Amino acid sequence: MGLAVVDHPLAGSLLTALRDRTTPPPLFRLIAKRLALVLCIEATRTLPATSVEVETPLASTTGTRLEPLVVVPILRAGLGMLEAVTELFPEVTVGYLGLERDHATFEPSMYYSKLPPLEGRSALLLDPMLATGGSASAACEALEKAGATHVTLLSVLAAPEGIARLEKAHPELDIVTASVDERLDSHAYIVPGLGDFGDRLFGT
Ligand code: PRP
Ligand code: URA
Repeated sequence: MGLAVVDHPLAGSLLTALRDRTTPPPLFRLIAKRLALVLCIEATRTLPATSVEVETPLASTTGTRLEPLVVVPILRAGLGMLEAVTELFPEVTVGYLGLERDHATFEPSMYYSKLPPLEGRSALLLDPMLATGGSASAACEALEKAGATHVTLLSVLAAPEGIARLEKAHPELDIVTASVDERLDSHAYIVPGLGDFGDRLFGT
């Protein structure tokens, strides 16, 4: 499994604003989108690309073209990262997975799935919080079952517990995150974390 922790002051300052409990939902949404853009740029570093010939006004030269991508946000919180990816890659195909953690067991249940054809495609999976890893693991299973050849998870924050779970269950997965935090608390929230991403994004 590849784990990339984006070590850039821009990512750091955006993450700090997301962590700040006084950041209100409108600003939280804006900053989440900006940080998702930074994570997406890092994620595309390892995505399949082909060499192409391009004619400049002066000469022909060799350039790069990324293979067609599929992006799949996990509802709800992953929606806060989607626009950054669709703006960066307007040709991207979008699928959706709805997953919700049980408050007692922390295990996810899937309440919605709408995936485009994934056979032979690479997928970017968007879930800002990698806590126990249950949601991301269930999503990876769905994407692999649908035929995705490679999955990269973009998460704002990751807990060591979630990384370990994914490493065991999905060794081929790549993860791009802005921080690996200390631990989970007794409610399976990431510490120091930023609280409930979905609630802060949607003002619930
Ligand atoms: C949150 C978060 C992740 C999941 C992470 O979703 O957005 O999807 O928990 O936790 P895990 O790694 O322990 O599975 P939640 O179930 O709260 O739903 P929401 O996005 O609709 O708020
Ligand atoms: N989901 C969140 O939104 N926050 C956490 O800290 C863990 C799961």
